[in-house]
Amino acid sequence: MKIISVVGARPNFMKIAPFAKAISAHNSADPDRPIEHILVHTGQHYDVRMSEGFFHSLGIPDPDINLEIGSGSHAEQVGQTMIAFEKVILQEKPDWVVVVGDVNATLACSVAAKKLCVKVCHIEAGLRSGDMTMPEEVNRLVTDRLSDLLLTPDAISGHNLRAEGVSEEKIRFVGNIMIDTLEANRDKAAQLSMEDILRENLLLPEKETPAVDLSGDFALLTMHRPSNVDQKEVLEPILNFLTGEVAPRMPIIWPIHPRARKMLENFGLWEKAVACANLVLLHPIGYHEMLRLNMQASIMLTDSGGLQEECCVLGTPCLTLRWNTERPVTLKEHGGASVLVGNNVERIREEFHTALESDRMPQRPELWDGLTAARCVSWLVDSE
Ligand code: UD1
Repeated sequence: MKIISVVGARPNFMKIAPFAKAISAHNSADPDRPIEHILVHTGQHYDVRMSEGFFHSLGIPDPDINLEIGSGSHAEQVGQTMIAFEKVILQEKPDWVVVVGDVNATLACSVAAKKLCVKVCHIEAGLRSGDMTMPEEVNRLVTDRLSDLLLTPDAISGHNLRAEGVSEEKIRFVGNIMIDTLEANRDKAAQLSMEDILRENLLLPEKETPAVDLSGDFALLTMHRPSNVDQKEVLEPILNFLTGEVAPRMPIIWPIHPRARKMLENFGLWEKAVACANLVLLHPIGYHEMLRLNMQASIMLTDSGGLQEECCVLGTPCLTLRWNTERPVTLKEHGGASVLVGNNVERIREEFHTALESDRMPQRPELWDGLTAARCVSWLVDSE
């Protein structure tokens, strides 16, 4: 069997790492039914810190093919990926194209494969925010509609697919593949020194940061969604809250996404962020570095789906800077560690104080057991 798997952007890398390892393990255990695996990187994320670094640190094999698509509007990224990926399929003639997550590469490669009558398998199928203004929701819906094998991370995702009329034999509940990566890397992350992480990743080493004390409370922050960073009216009040109310109380560690940085600069807010002494601006950091900080943080503020899931397993109180989530299993009402606060400062403030009073409560939703990738590979082999 020949499989092409696809990565495009940062959140894909932690999902493909265990999948590639599980294919190697299958090939050693069952040499009579070998899988030929071709890894394609669309190049949507291309900075060393957003992409290449993860290949090294997570032991992902070098991509066999890099489409080098880079930045652009949604249509540009999707269109150029489809054109380039179609050529790859015609040349390689795979039995399956495996896509993960919900980024533009996921959508583009599913459509290109399906139009050439190649079977599509979606890992992390069935997540739904119900919010069609979110580019990722469009990507999820189209990818799932086209997929022949839908591998779901939790029970709610399976219900979503059935409600949309996906036939039962296409749906398989495998668990959360991101948690395979978390479990495989937890010990290594725990050995890192937080002071070294800060020193090695400071965005502005020249900034006069007073020695930040990470032995007490600190907040960890990430933001990149267009709904939070692309409008000044939304971004400015959040920044004011962070610099005016959180930073005087505890250090804030902010590994800043290129989109967020660009927007702060465009809106004339960058100087304000830089001037805040207790706001520590970092480059985008590596997987182990983020995991280490997350293990220790008193609170996470984020709009990332992956971090919501990691907070759930680590028990870090998490304020999700969104009005909805495609990952309800991570919410407090489902036993998780996260609460939706949108981008309204009053709501963020209220939940910030509540979260600081809560204890860490690690949770493990069903099949978030570190063995998901092996289940993905076995379902693919069985579907042959
Ligand atoms: C993308 C994904 C999102 C995912 C996020 C994680 C889609 C629709 N969105 O959003 O689901 O959560 O990645 O990071 O696929 N840039 C760089 N260097 C890079 C990559 C991007 O500077 O290596 C800049 C680009 O110039 C662009 C901006 O960051 O202006 C945003 O990149 P883009 O790929 O459009 O989407 P993300 O916001 O990163």
